[in-house]
Amino acid sequence: MRNETQMLKSLLHLGVELNQVHDLDILMETILERARFFSRADAGSIYIRDGENLQFSYTQNQTLSQRLSPGRKLVYTRFSIPVNDKSIAGYVAQTGVFLNLDDVYHLDKSLPFRFNKEMDEVSNYRTASMLTLPLTTATTGVTGVLQVINATDGCGHVVPFSPDDETVMFHFAALAAVALERAQMTRSTILRIVKMAEMRDPTETGVHVSRVAGYSVALYEAWAKRHDVSQQEVHKTRDVFRMAAMLHDVGKTAIPDSILKKPGKLDAEEFEVMKEHTFIGARLFYPFESFYDKTCAEVAVAHHEKWDGTGYPGHVDVMTGEPLEGFTDAAGRARPKAGEEIPIFGRIVALADVYDALLSKRVYKAEWKESEVLAYIHGQSARQFDPELVEIFFELLDEFRRIHALYTS
Ligand code: C2E
Ligand code: SIN
Ligand code: SIN
Ligand code: FE
Ligand code: FE
Repeated sequence: MRNETQMLKSLLHLGVELNQVHDLDILMETILERARFFSRADAGSIYIRDGENLQFSYTQNQTLSQRLSPGRKLVYTRFSIPVNDKSIAGYVAQTGVFLNLDDVYHLDKSLPFRFNKEMDEVSNYRTASMLTLPLTTATTGVTGVLQVINATDGCGHVVPFSPDDETVMFHFAALAAVALERAQMTRSTILRIVKMAEMRDPTETGVHVSRVAGYSVALYEAWAKRHDVSQQEVHKTRDVFRMAAMLHDVGKTAIPDSILKKPGKLDAEEFEVMKEHTFIGARLFYPFESFYDKTCAEVAVAHHEKWDGTGYPGHVDVMTGEPLEGFTDAAGRARPKAGEEIPIFGRIVALADVYDALLSKRVYKAEWKESEVLAYIHGQSARQFDPELVEIFFELLDEFRRIHALYTS
């Protein structure tokens, strides 16, 4: 099965795939998936370098995943380890040299680093063989560390990583490092845009948009599963959707401070202006050519529509904000979208955004207790929100809580 032609094909395919992937979180998943496939590893982790620290950024573990209920993912709290010779990953980041260790519990006493057994103890796992490689680019040096854990022999026994594994993983790590750099650039561009929005509206912080994006992708994945959306489609959509969700309120940058930062309730006139952040945001992605542009525009314009047809801005031309012909009410205003007229990405972000807004303090309101938020969402099923998404929301509640904790600083 794992002959050279097949491996080369997979590597080439990966190159194409990684070029299409713009989002860092999705990229890390793909890197780990492929890396584990190549080396038949049970587990893997990626650390991203952040100055003098390595941020434990992503992890997959087959054995531990199987202990979870289906469809759930492992979510770890982020922790970081210093770039120094005391840990395995730290040593690899510091020296730029890879390490192939047969059993991390029996390291040669002359080595400076020790394996940290804490994670194993917490998760009741036994790490043995470990192949750890630096992610290195010519321009920035070591940008991260890729670690695969517990190679298996095909019968489920843990074995050391072979010299062949090393060779393949080296090509792989080089490819991954370049793609990682590119993804970090894309993400930093988006975070700069978010930062711009944040200067205008202190509620639209990096953590808020990351949380909304995290919930949105979780809802989308579960929704897609119910609707038999192919894995390939989900994979293609997920990273684009995550960015679109991050940018849902980008149109707020055009709203005057007197309204955006008003410490109290908006009057009717002010709220009319505030509503414009939807189509103004969508307009930023004109001429809506790529899938990315279209998705971002769709989310921006539709994230305040409501399932029962009482939301905004309704059927408008996003370039002018004027009602579309044939979609006006008696007063000549745009008719709000209702039910499945609202694109699924809009319905998802609507729920994710309100969940996060209610849990958070705003200039105009205090944060709500979780029990109040859950009661509200439950009560708004088939009113404000797509009832199917509310159902999925409650199924995924634990994951939502973990995402909330992960992005709260
Ligand atoms: P946001 O603060 O991010 O809130 C997003 C959405 O969460 C709101 O959309 C609403 O659906 C929900 N939400 C937030 N707080 C509450 C609440 O206390 N009760 C209920 N039932 N729902 C809540 P909405 O209302 O269309 O508002 C869109 C944006 O307009 C808000 O984004 C915020 O930036 C601004 N905004 C809305 N009302 C006020 C206000 O009274 N004063 C100020 N200064 N801004 C407001
Ligand atoms: C991938 O990112 O290639 C697959 C991982 C997943 O679907 O969770
Ligand atoms: C390492 O030292 O690289 C491993 C860190 C850990 O898994 O605790
Ligand atoms: Fe909004
Ligand atoms: Fe928001």
